Amino acid sequence: MHSLDARTVPADPHAQQRLQASGLDYRVVDATDPVAARAFARADARGFLDPEPDDAAVARARETVIDRRNIGVFAPGAAPDALPVATVNSWITPMTVPGAPGAHLPMWAISSVTVSATHRRRGIARNLLEGELRAAGAAGVPVAGLTATEATIYGRYGFGAALPVARLQVDARRAGGIALPASDRVTVEYLEPEALATALDAVHERTRLTRVGDIAGWPERWRRMAGLAPDDEKARAVRGVRAIDPAGTTRGVLAYTLDELRDDFGADLRVRHLDAETPEALRALWAFAVNHDLIRTVHADLRAVDDPLPWLVANQRAVQTAVHDHGWLRVLDVPAVLRSRTYRAPLDVVLRVADPLGIADGSWRLRVDADGVGDVQSTHVAPDVELGVGALGSLCLGGVSAPALHAAGRLAATAEVASAWENAFGLPVAPSLSIWY
Ligand SMILES: CC(C)(COP(=O)(O)OP(=O)(O)OC[C@H]1O[C@@H](n2cnc3c(N)ncnc32)[C@H](O)[C@@H]1OP(=O)(O)O)[C@@H](O)C(=O)NCCC(=O)NCCS
Repeated sequence: MHSLDARTVPADPHAQQRLQASGLDYRVVDATDPVAARAFARADARGFLDPEPDDAAVARARETVIDRRNIGVFAPGAAPDALPVATVNSWITPMTVPGAPGAHLPMWAISSVTVSATHRRRGIARNLLEGELRAAGAAGVPVAGLTATEATIYGRYGFGAALPVARLQVDARRAGGIALPASDRVTVEYLEPEALATALDAVHERTRLTRVGDIAGWPERWRRMAGLAPDDEKARAVRGVRAIDPAGTTRGVLAYTLDELRDDFGADLRVRHLDAETPEALRALWAFAVNHDLIRTVHADLRAVDDPLPWLVANQRAVQTAVHDHGWLRVLDVPAVLRSRTYRAPLDVVLRVADPLGIADGSWRLRVDADGVGDVQSTHVAPDVELGVGALGSLCLGGVSAPALHAAGRLAATAEVASAWENAFGLPVAPSLSIWY
């Protein structure tokens, strides 16, 4: 775990000066002050088109933002309880990288990016994002990450879509069910909400250590998933089960809601979070959902692109899979990122990285030995690979295909070098990110 606390990192002076030139005050918000925390939560809700948060929702939001570095942008002469016209927050979290279980990079996670509808398209978001990246880079954090409401917002700041995930929809009536091998010997039992929150947290904290691309969760997230957030309209519809191995250990957990059908007796089952640390537990939980009586459709998002579900059901055409961008990464320190992971095959390439913000600009030689260990040195020799910092973000964990980026013109190299890169960077199990933030 990175020992640095993002809350100790000061506001970026460049962003501060630029926004000051427009009369705006860009500063770190003190979330221990209830008035400031309330204004931040209200601005965040407004920005994300959520209803006005009540006292309970503000208190709940504060539990989370108090652990984060919160930045607000304020109009001139704003009252102490005035809503900021823009918000962003960040924290440092471990992100799993290829290597031994638990291998990780500290990642500067960015969330709550909002600009008030009255102040949009004046460059405020650009200052917020560039301010985050400069602050993180100056603090020595090698990579920043986020999940995005729209795929067109963050490429301009050097983020690349790195962790695609699958949205799965199962026509449960056509699927033909899931038949479990008798050797699985996993039992499934219902959990009460508090126990569900605890199990979601515990299972995630174990599975993320081997799921490349995933990050740590936080208590409020699991409470919300378990239906314990009072402002969550769906809270009372949440149910949960766990998968237990023959030794009595929880190996998987599923939180879901049932949406009653209007025109038929039955429901659609919507997975809120599904996590399992053994294939047996994963099969048991998918079987619970797909074989459930009276279910028309099972919906699940944020699944790994190699989730076995289509291979579990009798009729794979009952499963529709839509792959979409989810985790975005922004490389801040090229050598640190390339050294942090292991590789699948030897490689010797010189890469030239172009970064319009200048943070990760440069040329490096990456030499991967027969054990998959990478050595990275700065160099001035002619590159084999030229790519933007966003493409490097997409490729660095092996979640995106180098030949695909080569074909898209985002990786200047010979086809042979793009293939060799893929052999080294690619992973046998798809990286994935199981949470929104
Ligand atoms: C997305 C959002 C933060 C942008 O804020 P903003 O201050 O209007 O953005 P800026 O004026 O700094 O724009 C910077 C650049 O991004 C572009 N841009 C802004 N919003 C965009 C969007 N939604 N889609 C695509 N491009 C966008 C601008 O055109 C501008 O482009 P340029 O660099 O080529 O000039 C704001 O629209 C918002 O709060 N949206 C609702 C909440 C949300 O979706 N937040 C993102 C969470 S992941």
